[in-house]
Amino acid sequence: MVVRGTLRKNVRILLLGDRGVGKTSLILSLVSEEFPEDVPYRAEEITIPPDVTPELVPTHIVDYSAQDQTEDQLLDEVRRAHVICLVYSVASERTLMNITSHWLPMLREAVPHSRCPIILVGNKVDLTEESTVSLAQEIMEQYPEIESFVECSAKTLKNISEMFYYAQKAVLHPTAPIYLADRLD
Ligand code: GTP
Ligand code: MG
Repeated sequence: MVVRGTLRKNVRILLLGDRGVGKTSLILSLVSEEFPEDVPYRAEEITIPPDVTPELVPTHIVDYSAQDQTEDQLLDEVRRAHVICLVYSVASERTLMNITSHWLPMLREAVPHSRCPIILVGNKVDLTEESTVSLAQEIMEQYPEIESFVECSAKTLKNISEMFYYAQKAVLHPTAPIYLADRLD
């Protein structure tokens, strides 16, 4: 029998993406189970105790904000992360374009040969009927380091816990890519 997975005792999740896509809101929505109207640029690092995580391992969630952090701090966090949630807004084509023009190439350059999985996250699905699934699929074909894709909303809490679950799972049980884009409530 072949058992895939790692012996990690904790999971460190880093959220990256353009300004304003909702990184801080996603973290605070997960923690408080409601949408925070006012958020700081950057959430404090949060540790979720093992008994309330689906995979029963302590999970650290780390926010990033270009407002608050230097390029060196960003690279340091990228190197420490076990999995990266790369967030764009489904309501902003520019933020999706920047995933391929900026973020994914930057990550490849920052950590060459990295096995750090990426979860592609389309936030703010409450704002539009348009799905970005087919564009996301094209991106996933070019970048196999993307382990899964989820469309979600920090505002309605849709797919928020799923997003963090997929991030945990990508570290503990890496598998073939998963698509999670069901837009029905
Ligand atoms: P930076 O820290 O500047 O990089 O931005 P960020 O990615 O942390 O975004 P932030 O959480 O500050 O959210 C930016 C704006 O988008 C805020 O006004 C949020 O209320 C709003 N927002 C975040 N998530 C959602 C969402 O799912 N739906 C809607 N409608 N608005 C959202
Ligand atoms: Mg922020």
